[in-house]
Amino acid sequence: MRLGIISALHEEQQGLVDAMEGASTLIHGMRDYTHGKLFGIDAVCVLSRIGKVAAATTATMLVEKFGVTHILFTGVAGAGDSGVQVGDIVVAESLVQYDMDASPLFPRFEVPLTGQSHFTSDSHLSNEVASAVHHFLDRDFDKAIDAAERQVFRLKRPRVHRGLIGSGDRFVSCRTHLSEINAGLPGLLAVEMEGAAVAQVCFELGVPFAVIRTISDNANEDAATDFMRFVKSVAARYAFHIVKRYCLT
Ligand code: ADE
Repeated sequence: MRLGIISALHEEQQGLVDAMEGASTLIHGMRDYTHGKLFGIDAVCVLSRIGKVAAATTATMLVEKFGVTHILFTGVAGAGDSGVQVGDIVVAESLVQYDMDASPLFPRFEVPLTGQSHFTSDSHLSNEVASAVHHFLDRDFDKAIDAAERQVFRLKRPRVHRGLIGSGDRFVSCRTHLSEINAGLPGLLAVEMEGAAVAQVCFELGVPFAVIRTISDNANEDAATDFMRFVKSVAARYAFHIVKRYCLT
């Protein structure tokens, strides 16, 4: 197994590259791919930057040029449902490109000529990642995120949700826009800008993948401020500890 780990931004993956043993970095297509042993697992870490094209390109390179056999995307997302709070973690069961609409030629959300609108994540990898998330919350959370930070973000006991994540090339920072997205996609748990693009590439190339997202904001008018604060402070520690727990178990 060689695991590709993608995040959009440095702040969502900070610490993992430093933890790699025997790390070597190759720059390709304006991205740094760092290969090494991560807590005993053969891994390649890379930042995709933001958006579906950036993420799809990065996932393709990981498979075709760096030989990864599995992909894990880790990062933050906006809440897509009022039952999902800042600090909660969403493990994707399926992902949809909510801005894909080739109707009336193809059904809404369907990626033309793939027959797919909802791309299903690998259940084995997602189960393993979900159990790493539970270990993180049970054993590391209180130490990793200090009391002052927990207070700033009003983090109580973060919950783990599993279900649908929507991706689109837009930072959702308006209640009305979120309601429009929700209207067509009941059960949507989180909105972000990369996961479903990685999911499509993995579907097409036959590569098992999982996506985990920590909720940084409520995809409303405060989203940009909340997102920046969350990403600048605690996001990297969520990702670091979850990936560490995943690799070590
Ligand atoms: N990632 C984190 N928060 C987001 C939001 N509100 N919209 C899109 N992507 C996000």
